[in-house]
Amino acid sequence: MAGQKIQAPKGVSEYVPPRSAAFEFVRESLIEPARKAGYQLIELPVFEDTELFTRGVGESTDVVSKEMYTFQDRGDRSITLRPEGTAGVMRAVIEHGLDRGQLPAKLWYSGQFFRAERPQAGRYRQFYQVGIEAIGLDDAAIDAEVIAIADAGFKAIGLSKYRLEITSLGDAVSRAAHRVDLVKFIAGMKLDEATTARAALNPLRLFDDKRPEIKDAMAKAPLLVDYLSESSRAHFEQVKKYLDVLDISYVLNPRMVRGLDYYTGTTFEFVHELLGAQAGIGGGGRYDGLMAELGGQSLSGIGFGLGVDRALLAAEAEGVINENSFVSDLFIIPLGDAAKEMAMKIASQLRGAGKSIEIAFGDRALKGAMKGADKSGARYVIVLGESEISSAMVELKEMKTGATSSVKIDSLISAI
Ligand code: HAM
Repeated sequence: MAGQKIQAPKGVSEYVPPRSAAFEFVRESLIEPARKAGYQLIELPVFEDTELFTRGVGESTDVVSKEMYTFQDRGDRSITLRPEGTAGVMRAVIEHGLDRGQLPAKLWYSGQFFRAERPQAGRYRQFYQVGIEAIGLDDAAIDAEVIAIADAGFKAIGLSKYRLEITSLGDAVSRAAHRVDLVKFIAGMKLDEATTARAALNPLRLFDDKRPEIKDAMAKAPLLVDYLSESSRAHFEQVKKYLDVLDISYVLNPRMVRGLDYYTGTTFEFVHELLGAQAGIGGGGRYDGLMAELGGQSLSGIGFGLGVDRALLAAEAEGVINENSFVSDLFIIPLGDAAKEMAMKIASQLRGAGKSIEIAFGDRALKGAMKGADKSGARYVIVLGESEISSAMVELKEMKTGATSSVKIDSLISAI
């Protein structure tokens, strides 16, 4: 008896052809600007000790308190599938002493992340991010460069209907001053027990509460930007100046609350206009206390995480994606065994010379094979039969125009 079909777990994103080509294009477009700015690859495990995230990301966050995939492994250790990348990068930077080398350490990564959220369009339980982290330099110029790298990635995809929101969460002095007044303000609100506990861990979280009554009450709450210390204010002004120099437009959002607790200073989000509820296509900021929190030196850092799945949805919504982006240079249709061998040899030579070549295997009739060539989107096609082999000449057909020309097999490389 046939077994029952098994489906992918609920809420995971996966990409199969032809859409996978568009996914790959989006991911590569987001990575390339980081490479061009001197960021180097860091490949990290998808699971870490749970404590890395409880300490690094913060217990007041939804990510840690509700959304982690945590389990005991066979050695009875508490393991968590990474919900984000920054804490892991910090852990590895400390562990491998990258903080003792040339600073800033500039790293990029890309891969799967896991959050047990309620799945909906653009919100998955396994999703993809491209991220960068620049560690060990507290200069407003690198804040602006990090933002510019993200912006360049979105532009390389062809996106234009998004905005950049920025704010500053200030340094420890700014946040302490703000906290005093915010806590006083919150004490005057009627809150349930869970919300009170949450506010005690991090009062800023209440800015992120979606319930209308809390939203209304928080409309009058004191804002952190009004408490910035002199140096935090100067740093933020400088970041804005650099963004102006780079022609990157932004809107100030003093109520922005990021979903992770480690942020300090410059904080930003890219919001797409066509994506509805899950419109955040990327975000990041400074995290000047994180390294020390994780047992390392007290070095500053800034970075971002860009949502590859959402950037792809945004590109589709804007109609800027070309799905069939893999197009081979040449499609070879061999007729008979000798031709098959020859086709394989030609393909291997031309691929070695950098061309993309497909062969129609499977001894299909010519008509069917031609249809396959057409569907594949290949630029050229040749048919290899006995006469072609004996004359060492082929008819090279350009698929788009239908134009044909006789070409020596040895000269194919220069003809395609
Ligand atoms: P984040 O804002 O939590 O930041 O995530 C970054 C991006 O990942 C979001 O803007 C969104 O596009 C995407 N994303 C998050 N959750 C989901 C989900 N459930 N489904 C689909 N896409 C999602 C971070 O993770 C920080 N580590 C970024 C960072 C790096 N900050 C400093 N350095």
